[in-house]
Amino acid sequence: MILFINACVRDDSRTLRLAKDFLASYGRDESITAVELQSQGLSPLDGEKLSAREKFIAQGNYDNEMFEHAKLFSGAEKIVIAAPYWDYSFPALLKIYIEQLCVMGLTFTYSDEGVPVSLCRLEELVYITTAGGFIPERNYGYDYVREVFTGFFGAKKCRYIKAEGLDIIGSDPDEILSLAEKDF
Ligand SMILES: Cc1cc2nc3c(=O)[nH]c(=O)nc-3n(C[C@H](O)[C@H](O)[C@H](O)COP(=O)(O)O)c2cc1C
Repeated sequence: MILFINACVRDDSRTLRLAKDFLASYGRDESITAVELQSQGLSPLDGEKLSAREKFIAQGNYDNEMFEHAKLFSGAEKIVIAAPYWDYSFPALLKIYIEQLCVMGLTFTYSDEGVPVSLCRLEELVYITTAGGFIPERNYGYDYVREVFTGFFGAKKCRYIKAEGLDIIGSDPDEILSLAEKDF
């Protein structure tokens, strides 16, 4: 199963356009389940939610609906994330979603040596982004997501697809997006 995580926000999102073009070939022979982050009613973990979550985890009880995202995620072999480049990383919605995924005992655990061990089926992560300008070498978007998805969730292969400079005066976003598609 491919899990498509849509962290795009604008109605005419160029990142979503790129992701849809990618999925048209990548997902041809597999089922795709989409998670539209904007319509999930996501909110950050606060003290109350965190203590409830910790209580459930200590009991090994994952029946509560707060674990639904983590359960769905743990069964996916391929994850495709579409996220625009915002404020040197990505929209906060994606970070809040990742908080929902990092559930000890469900998506990862720790070895006796304190090393995270994945409990997911994940094989491949594909991260798709577009940026108004150029993404610097210190990439707090993709590099952060890759770290979490390899470290906690055991992704064996990671792919990064980007289109940059879309908002620069005189640039041709359609042409830039077409060039990015050559990396598919
Ligand atoms: C809230 C916000 C923050 C942004 N931050 C950056 C940034 O840090 N660097 C950059 O190059 N472009 C930035 N941009 C421009 C977007 O990366 C660019 O327009 C991108 O293509 C938007 O993707 P979308 O068409 O999928 O919404 C920002 C845009 C918004 C709306």
